[in-house]
Amino acid sequence: MPISGRDPRGMREAWACPGGSRPVGGPRTAARRRAAGTGLAGRSLLYGLLAGLLAPCAAAAQDDDDALAEQGQRLYEQQCALCHGSAGEGRPPAVPALRDNERLGLAARTVRFIRQGAASMPPFPALTAAEVAALASHVRTAWTNDFGSVTTGEVADVLDGLADGSETASVWDGVFTEAQAARGRDVYTGACGLCHGRRLNGAPDDPDMRSTPPLARARFLREWEGRSLAVLLAFTRLTMPEDNPGSLTDAEYVDVIAYMLSVGRMPAGGGEIPTDSGRLAEIVIGRER
Ligand code: HEC
Ligand code: HEC
Repeated sequence: MPISGRDPRGMREAWACPGGSRPVGGPRTAARRRAAGTGLAGRSLLYGLLAGLLAPCAAAAQDDDDALAEQGQRLYEQQCALCHGSAGEGRPPAVPALRDNERLGLAARTVRFIRQGAASMPPFPALTAAEVAALASHVRTAWTNDFGSVTTGEVADVLDGLADGSETASVWDGVFTEAQAARGRDVYTGACGLCHGRRLNGAPDDPDMRSTPPLARARFLREWEGRSLAVLLAFTRLTMPEDNPGSLTDAEYVDVIAYMLSVGRMPAGGGEIPTDSGRLAEIVIGRER
């Protein structure tokens, strides 16, 4: 059996790595340092042997780390970059930057923000503990941040009794009423139509004005797929109308959202879209029913 160099995949499984199988999101920086192995080789025969013995574990840990980092990055791009920016720059003053943000040094606080949201940040109740760990690890180690990763176990400790992902509904399930969409149409005409266009396609009514993103149909759905109505409400309230953000009531914002869905041919149902962000977080935007 070789004692140095990387073993083929199958062989790793025969080894009991120190510490047993690591939970997702384990001590990744430590594993990186071990995997890098700088200075170990050549110092002494003993060190060389040790490095050889640990190499398969370090390599396996490296694979886990890479998968976790990839998952964290992907989730961040889909759910967070909209507000916090691809480079963690935020949208000051409405949305704080996450890059070089000392408050992310507080692991438990970061975990709670991600899962439960805050006054102006939407909650993400459908994320599993492993996904929250991947996201927390990502924002704490991406860009120039160096706060270390967070394990699934740590996430579970913070959010005691956390259920693994809550039930979600789709915007195609009849989540608004005809009356709500009709009210939303009036609000839209007064507060949004000038820029987003009478047909919600992003072509402003005034041809001299620059175009804006569409707020209904295929292109909108492609952009927003997988995000919840809590994210849509929070984003819209924080940034729109562009010339006067936050100027509508929550009820008016969700009425406009009902109108946007109705223009996108989603069916009306028996109840209105609520303003409560916890319940909104359970309604997910999907491209089709
Ligand atoms: C709709 C916009 C929006 C989205 C989407 C969003 N956030 Fe936030 N986030 C905010 C706002 C606004 C705050 C400040 C909230 C407050 O302090 O009340 C915030 C605060 C935070 C904080 C605390 C920062 C600090 O300085 O205290 C963290 C951590 C965070 N967000 C992470 C995330 C992650 C991770 C995601 C994706 C899963 C995400 N956010 C998605 C708007 C958003
Ligand atoms: C003064 C012009 C203006 C007004 C009024 C306005 N918007 Fe916007 N809206 C924009 C622009 C410009 C963008 C693109 C911003 C960007 O990319 O950062 C945008 C982006 C958006 C987006 C994000 C779309 C996407 O897929 O990126 C939503 C949602 C939105 N607006 C909703 C609304 C709603 C709802 C209203 C009315 C309450 C409204 N806007 C009023 C100019 C406006």
